[in-house]
Amino acid sequence: MARPKIALIGAGQIGGTLAHLAAVKELGDVVLFDITEGVPQGKALDIAESGPVEGIDAKLKGTNDYADIAGADVCIVTAGVPRKPGMSRDDLLGINLKVMKAVGEGIRDNAPDAFVICITNPLDAMVWALREFSGLPHEKVVGMAGVLDSARFRHFLSEEFGVSMRDVTAFVLGGHGDTMVPLARYSTVGGIPLPDLVEMGWTSQEKLDAIVQRTRDGGAEIVGLLKTGSAFYAPAASAIEMATAYLKDQKRLLPAAAWVDGALGLNGMYVGVPTIIGAGGIEKVVDIKLNRDEQAMFDKSVDAVRGLVEACKGIDSSLT
Ligand code: APR
Repeated sequence: MARPKIALIGAGQIGGTLAHLAAVKELGDVVLFDITEGVPQGKALDIAESGPVEGIDAKLKGTNDYADIAGADVCIVTAGVPRKPGMSRDDLLGINLKVMKAVGEGIRDNAPDAFVICITNPLDAMVWALREFSGLPHEKVVGMAGVLDSARFRHFLSEEFGVSMRDVTAFVLGGHGDTMVPLARYSTVGGIPLPDLVEMGWTSQEKLDAIVQRTRDGGAEIVGLLKTGSAFYAPAASAIEMATAYLKDQKRLLPAAAWVDGALGLNGMYVGVPTIIGAGGIEKVVDIKLNRDEQAMFDKSVDAVRGLVEACKGIDSSLT
């Protein structure tokens, strides 16, 4: 059977890391696309030349021509601009919306059967716009945010509790912005929910609140340190986990910015929710129950995403 084809739209910091991870994990052959000439070709060649050392069987190609993504099984979109210190993800909306139009049409015309994972920010609005511009089925277009936000939460929790990250599960829902909703009640260490761990005296509510806030500010913390761009290792690893779930039909239960129509009281919008990802793409949105406080936080986050989608419609009249 032929190897799967993975198209990476955007060959910047995240795109290059995605290409490297996809190759090293032998997920399939990789096509790296960018509008900048030379960069995708250079990165593809550099990674290919690591192949003999790593012992990997994967073909890599860099290109500036959408025709080369034809027949891709997975497209991961990072095209656009990242934020700089002091900027919020929302500040990127105007520029990245135009990029989503070009990318959506490129995917529509060349890889309409792909599972598309969007990483470009502001995430929830961009994945919505990308779906609109591409016209692909909703279950085949998804945004990567929840896996990353949850990974940040898990990392901070494992440090606080002094336990392996493997034993920490965490859920972060809502929009990928300041209003994201880390759910303590559904996050556990070895199966023990965080509120119980507070009661057991393993940590204090104050410390837990600080970790929740650090998770919300996780992207800005990295931007503040790097100064010239935003996070790329953890975002790339997170998208690769989602692509793997699709390609290997793993039925993983992962938080993702998915099209929600019916679950969680929502009628047709993209926002971060628990999903099951398998060969059908987003096979299910898990309709979890929220308590009053969680629901209030989720509603606030949903409102923020709605505001960004309305702003997109204000900028591009072809979006309705
Ligand atoms: N088509 C294809 N590629 C494009 C386009 C376009 N229309 N416009 C810009 N690009 C490319 C740039 O040439 C650049 O190589 O997108 C790439 C973006 O790479 P970086 O600037 O390194 O940004 P990166 O850190 O990879 O982040 C990309 O993901 O997390 C989000 O906020 C982040 O929106 C940003 C995106």
